[in-house]
Amino acid sequence: MSTKISAEEFYDQIAASYDDTLTSSKVNAQYVNEAVKIFHRYNHHQGNVLDIGCGTGNLSELLQGDFEYTGIDISSKMLDFAYQRGYKTIHKPIETALEQIDTKSFDFVFCLGSLLCVEDAATAIEHMGRIASKTILISLDETTEEFIKKSAVPVYDRSKIIIKDATEDYFILGWTSPTTGIPIRTRMIYIEQDR
Ligand SMILES: C[S@@+](CC[C@H](N)C(=O)[O-])C[C@H]1O[C@@H](n2cnc3c(N)ncnc32)[C@H](O)[C@@H]1O
Repeated sequence: MSTKISAEEFYDQIAASYDDTLTSSKVNAQYVNEAVKIFHRYNHHQGNVLDIGCGTGNLSELLQGDFEYTGIDISSKMLDFAYQRGYKTIHKPIETALEQIDTKSFDFVFCLGSLLCVEDAATAIEHMGRIASKTILISLDETTEEFIKKSAVPVYDRSKIIIKDATEDYFILGWTSPTTGIPIRTRMIYIEQDR
């Protein structure tokens, strides 16, 4: 019998401590900083951002410039924090939210740390390509067999998905799972539209 709980329940439970955990030395999360580093390397300073699986909206604390944020998340408790940070919020699963968003309606699309929870990540990435008018920044976690087994929520390894025409596509040591202690490599992908 599975002892896993849903992502919604899990992230609701940890929402209040999420930011502290993410920045703790135990987790040593590098993927968000890496995404911000890539984004600024390409000199983006203003526009609207769709943050998919936005969590607490921590991305908005790190991007330098004049940005308006909309966040999608399955956890209402995580979204409460994003709302306090000025996000417009969409409380829906990624799997149904993206198809309802207009083509080229956001300049920048970010999807960090959340596609490991999505079974059909390829379709989600296709939608990102449709929705973004300028750039897409995605992180894909290389979940190990051990982590897939021990994780509190159902997770998948989507790190091998084929993505053509990415400007940046490389692995880093992304983070260490605080519940299992397992280090996770993360694939960082940056795509410029209409190249
Ligand atoms: C590891 S956190 C990442 C938060 C933030 N993007 C970051 O990188 O720090 C994963 C987030 O994805 C959300 N999430 C997981 N599965 C989801 C789904 N199917 N639809 C929408 N949000 C989901 C969780 O609620 C959580 O807020």
